[in-house]
Amino acid sequence: MTTYVPPLRQSSPHLPFGDKQDATFYGKDILSVKQFSRDDLEYIFGVAHEMEEMVRRVGSFDLLKGKILANLFYEPSTRTSSSFTAAMERLGGSVIPINEVRYSSVSKGESLPDTVRTLESYADVVVLRHPETGAAALAAKYARKPVINAGDGIGEHPTQALLDLFTIREELGQVDGLTVTMLGDLKYGRTVHSLSRLLTLFDIRLNYVSPDILRMPAEIIEEIKATGIPQAEYAEMEPILAETDVLYVTRVQKERFTNPDEYELVRGAYVIGTDTMRQAKEKMVVMHPLPRVGEIAMEVDDDPRAAYFRQMEYGLYIRMALLAMVLGKA
Ligand code: CP
Repeated sequence: MTTYVPPLRQSSPHLPFGDKQDATFYGKDILSVKQFSRDDLEYIFGVAHEMEEMVRRVGSFDLLKGKILANLFYEPSTRTSSSFTAAMERLGGSVIPINEVRYSSVSKGESLPDTVRTLESYADVVVLRHPETGAAALAAKYARKPVINAGDGIGEHPTQALLDLFTIREELGQVDGLTVTMLGDLKYGRTVHSLSRLLTLFDIRLNYVSPDILRMPAEIIEEIKATGIPQAEYAEMEPILAETDVLYVTRVQKERFTNPDEYELVRGAYVIGTDTMRQAKEKMVVMHPLPRVGEIAMEVDDDPRAAYFRQMEYGLYIRMALLAMVLGKA
């Protein structure tokens, strides 16, 4: 008996549309920050600025009218899921939302490749969040349409890293020359895994502050070392707070621990409060991918250096830019 093997994804999608295809991103997956060059970032940020301007002027417009996004989330999300939805709808397209896979055929045991192939039959682009590292790459291997990685386990969160970098540039005017301190769960935090890699395209200095059991993975430290970017690890933030330009705070993620006692040992290890802000540079920014669970006190929210709510809004413009680019309308 011959087993039917479904075709793998071709290098370009079947049907080009429009005459404004962007050669770099049209029809492409967005799986890892490793795929971006500095020129790519300039281009994405330029399109994001245009999106911001259009949202301010008209709110929504019909750039992607007739296009459909499948928003497939196997893990909870507020920001990534809703900002991709808002991005598609502000561009005139529509969304198939699958935020609770237990109500889909996944609960009957359907595989990820089959689920993605199903959704791409109805949609033009698939946004995927999944608890397993490499899931987005697997989905992309089987899909003919672009797949965007919205977080794959403890692997990467490339669109978050793009919006983080955009935030740094918008808030501080530049990226070169900055000292970026990442704090919290650096072991399981996919946002810091992506952002640290993306920052190696710039002339920066990286500090990592974490409990011993949540240190940045050795392979990422090695990867960054190979680029020549200076990096240092600390258990406390005090020694490097005064020299920090970007304080990137992350949540200790209870859901990633197999041993609840280990979580209890490190939860609440760091809390950014007004005392912390007094010791920091006047022009520093505090960022956080959110959600937070106590690692930044609410009293910090009114400090102009608290950029985490603005960071969420920048995410809308970045995701509008990415959707327009992969669908050939940037
Ligand atoms: N930053 C982020 O990924 O948030 P959500 O989990 O709410 O999508």
